[in-house]
Amino acid sequence: MTECQRSSPFVLHFFGCLAICDAAVEAIGDGSLPVPSSGVFALKMVQVKVPLAALSGHSVQLECIFSLDGESLYAVKWYRGVDEFYRYVPAEEPHATVFGLNGIEVDLDESNANRLVLRSITAETAGRFRCEVSAEAPSFETVSGHADMTVVQLPQRGPVIVGGKPRYSVGDQVDLNCTSMRSSPATNLTWYINGEPAERHHLKFYPIVEDIDGLETSMLGLHFIIKTRHFRKGDLKFKCTATLAALYWQSNEASAEPDRPVHHQRSSSSEVYLDGHRTSTLASAALTVHFLGPLQRSVLSACFMIAMLIYVVSLS
Ligand SMILES: *[C@@H]1O[C@H](CO)[C@@H](O)[C@H](O)[C@H]1NC(C)=O
Ligand SMILES: *[C@@H]1O[C@H](CO)[C@@H](O)[C@H](O)[C@H]1NC(C)=O
Repeated sequence: MTECQRSSPFVLHFFGCLAICDAAVEAIGDGSLPVPSSGVFALKMVQVKVPLAALSGHSVQLECIFSLDGESLYAVKWYRGVDEFYRYVPAEEPHATVFGLNGIEVDLDESNANRLVLRSITAETAGRFRCEVSAEAPSFETVSGHADMTVVQLPQRGPVIVGGKPRYSVGDQVDLNCTSMRSSPATNLTWYINGEPAERHHLKFYPIVEDIDGLETSMLGLHFIIKTRHFRKGDLKFKCTATLAALYWQSNEASAEPDRPVHHQRSSSSEVYLDGHRTSTLASAALTVHFLGPLQRSVLSACFMIAMLIYVVSLS
């Protein structure tokens, strides 16, 4: 205190000094100021790993990676928003406690201090997940980190093209609709003509339709007059793709041959893949479906699909 006063010849500085000195005296006085030394301030949050987007109906794994470095763990708490829903306290029996929250179903057998598994996630599960770790006495230090998760509901099937005619000739009006039913969020639709993205003025935009359950249907129209160049490579091919923020890509294709109906059929199949590796930072889902088109129409060859779920690691 005296040193502080000595070094401050100005009145203004004097008041500043008083404040600093008072604070120092108070801290030393009650002895509560943590003294930095090895073993103290050692608790560190390394990362909170939450999938950026997860598929509805599936399980997800959230990880809270921290470093105790000599400290003893008191508790790990998980919050969604401001609500705590899971607490892990090694000193208590049982170690884990779950607090009810909408859309949160903790798999207790699979969860521990570093890992939290949520079962059967729904749209309600989405939100900001925060992991808070606290150390035992004497430091009682607390660190936390968070990451956001959205829940994606893939459409049950690929986009559907309606309005195709059996044959098209130069000068004909093309009038097609591509519809992707019930997903969350709505898919983005894109039309391709002979593999090239359709020009914007050939597109007709329709508003997204939301069902009561929150699932959304998107539709995009394609309207243009056929020119000779469209048949330059033989068939005229229309393709519509539905994408969900890099998570999902699916397309339906219609082809028209000039002057003669198409008489081919395609077999059907459907597949879904989901990466089963819990620790993987990349999971993917894929669907393959082939539509069987009516013979009288030239609609046909539907291909499908690829879905990618990118689990982004978020550092607090
Ligand atoms: C596309 O959808 C719109 C809006 O529902 C409808 O008016 C139009 O007739 C449809 N076009 C075709 C080719 O089905
Ligand atoms: C649709 O595309 C727009 C623009 O490319 C993008 O900002 C948006 O995130 C996409 N939405 C989905 C659901 O993929």
